[in-house]
Amino acid sequence: MEIFKSTTYLLLLVTLFLSTIVSQINGGGIKTQSEALGQFYKAKLKQNFNIDKSHFDANLVDHNDLQYFHIASKKSMVSQEVLENDKIQKLPGQPPVKFEQYGGYVTVDESAGRAFYYYFVEAQHSKESLPLLLWLNGGPGCSSLAYGAFQELGPFRVNSDGKTLHKNNFAWNYAANVLFLESPAGVGFSYSNTSTDVKIGGDKKTANDNYQFLVNWLERFPEYKDRDFYISGESYAGHYVPQLANTILYHNKKANKNIINLKGILIGNAVINDETDTRGMYEYFASHALISDEVEAEIQKECKFTVPESEESEECQVALGTTEHDTRPIDIYAIYVPHCHNTNLTAKPKKPSSVIDPCSDYYTTAYMNRPDVQKALHANVTNIKYSTWQPCSDVLTNWTDSPSTIIPLLREFMANDIRVWIFSGDTDGRVPVTSTKKSIKIMKLPIKTPWHPWFLNGEVGGYTQVYKGDMTFATVRGAGHQVPSYKAARALSLIIHFLAGIDLPDSKKPKY
Ligand SMILES: *[C@@H]1O[C@H](CO)[C@@H](O)[C@H](O)[C@H]1NC(C)=O
Ligand SMILES: *[C@@H]1O[C@H](CO)[C@@H](O)[C@H](O)[C@H]1NC(C)=O
Ligand SMILES: *[C@@H]1O[C@H](CO)[C@@H](O)[C@H](O)[C@H]1NC(C)=O
Ligand SMILES: *[C@@H]1O[C@H](CO)[C@@H](O)[C@H](O)[C@H]1NC(C)=O
Repeated sequence: MEIFKSTTYLLLLVTLFLSTIVSQINGGGIKTQSEALGQFYKAKLKQNFNIDKSHFDANLVDHNDLQYFHIASKKSMVSQEVLENDKIQKLPGQPPVKFEQYGGYVTVDESAGRAFYYYFVEAQHSKESLPLLLWLNGGPGCSSLAYGAFQELGPFRVNSDGKTLHKNNFAWNYAANVLFLESPAGVGFSYSNTSTDVKIGGDKKTANDNYQFLVNWLERFPEYKDRDFYISGESYAGHYVPQLANTILYHNKKANKNIINLKGILIGNAVINDETDTRGMYEYFASHALISDEVEAEIQKECKFTVPESEESEECQVALGTTEHDTRPIDIYAIYVPHCHNTNLTAKPKKPSSVIDPCSDYYTTAYMNRPDVQKALHANVTNIKYSTWQPCSDVLTNWTDSPSTIIPLLREFMANDIRVWIFSGDTDGRVPVTSTKKSIKIMKLPIKTPWHPWFLNGEVGGYTQVYKGDMTFATVRGAGHQVPSYKAARALSLIIHFLAGIDLPDSKKPKY
C-alpha cells in the first residue's frame, strides 16, 4: 500500500512536471493563433462574458459613417504618389523576386485615428488579368502577416535565424494578386490613436472597418477596382470573410452598382456554427483516438453547449475535464506534428523543409520586430507604443459580438451567385473536418457532384463534394489548421481551382 501510494505520487509529480514544460514551451512569451481561438471560446462560454450572439446582417449595422465613403473616394487624386511610397524595394534578407510588393497604412476612421496595415504582393505573372484575393486570419486578434503572409501562402517564409527569408514555391501569388490585411485595430501593425479602440473589438466593427479599408485601398490601387475580387481566410475568419462579403453586397445593392466586384469566398477550418463546431470537435477527438468513446458519448449526451460551462451538469464538466487532460499535451491544431521544443533563433538558418517548422511563430515574431524590417515594410511609422508586434494580439481584451452561426450568410451568397468554397485540413482537431461536415449537413443542400477523392501529382489531395447552388466542400489530406503551412502544393491547387471555378480533378490525369 505504502509503495503504491508513493509510486502514484511520483507519477503525479512527473505528470505535473511534464505538463509544466509543455505549457512553457507553448507559452514562450507570445500568443499564437491556436491559443487565441481556444481562449476566445472559453471566454465566449463564460457566464460573465456578455457577448452578442445574434445574426450578423449589414442591413442592421449602424452605417452613419456611410458619408465617409464618398469623402474618401474624392480624395483619391494623390494615389500615384502614395502608391510609390508604399512600394517595398526589398525586404531584409529577401531572395530576389520578379513581382512587386507593397506595404503601408490605410485609414479606416479619421476621427478616431484608426489605420490598418496591409501587405500586398502582385502576381508572379499576368498580374493585369489575374484576380485580386484578400486573405484574413482569425483569432480573433491574429495577424495575417504572421500566418497568411509569412507562414502559409505568402511568397516568403522566415528562416530560423529570424532575419532572412526563403521562397515559398507554392505561394498563392502564382494564382492571384494577394492582399494581406492586419485587422482589427490592435492586431499586428494596425493601430488606433483612440486607446479604447484597440481594447474593444467585435465582428460588426471589424466588418465595417474591413470594408472601409477595402474601399480606400482600391482608391490607392485603382487598376484593381473592377477586378474580380475574392475573399479567403481560415479559422475565426470563418466569421470575418462572410461578414465582409455581406457588407460588400449591402453597399453594392444600396449604390445600385458594383463598388467592389465580389465573385466568391473561400474559408478553411472555419468557425461556422457554434453548436456543430463544438460537437464535431469532440467527435473528432474520439474518432482520432485522442479521447475514449465513453467520454465522447458522455459529452454528446450531457453537455448542452448553449449555457456557460459553469452551468453544465457535473457529468458534462467531468467529461470535459478528462478531454482537456487527454488533449492538452498535443497540438490539437495539427494533431500529428511535434511541438516547438526550442524557441531560440539559430545563428545560421536551418534548411527549410516542405512542412513548416513548429517554431516558425518565433522566427516570424523576431523578424517583424526588427527595426530594419519595419522600415522596409513601411510599418509602425507612428511608433506604436502599447505593444510589440505579436502574431496574435493581447491588447484586444473585450470582444462584444460574435454570432452563433454564419450559415444564413452562406445561403445569401449562394442566392446571389457568389461562389462559396469551404475547405478543411483533415488533421486539425480544433475546427476539424467533422465539425465542418456537421455544419454543412444542417444546410440540407442538394448534392451536385457526390463525394470523391481529388488528385494532385498522382496522389489523393483530399476529398470533395459539390452542392447545387455553387458550394464546394473540399478536404486537404494531411493538413492541420493552417492548411498551406502543412500541404502547400495541395493548397495552391485548391486556390487555383477555386479561382477558376473548376471542380477539383476526380482522376489522376486532370482534364485541365
Ligand atoms: C495617429 O497619430 C499620429 C501621431 O500624432 C499621427 O501621425 C497619425 O497620422 C495618426 N493616425 C491616424 C490614422 O490619424
Ligand atoms: C536558448 O538561449 C538561452 C540564452 O542564450 C540559453 O540559456 C538556453 O540554453 C537556450 N535554449 C536551448 C534549448 O538551447
Ligand atoms: C514600434 O516601434 C517602437 C520603437 O522602435 C517599438 O518600441 C514598438 O514595439 C514598435 N511597435 C510594434 C507594434 O512593433
Ligand atoms: C466591453 O465593451 C462593452 C461595449 O463597449 C462594455 O459595455 C462592457 O462593459 C465591456 N466589458 C468589459 C469587461 O470591459
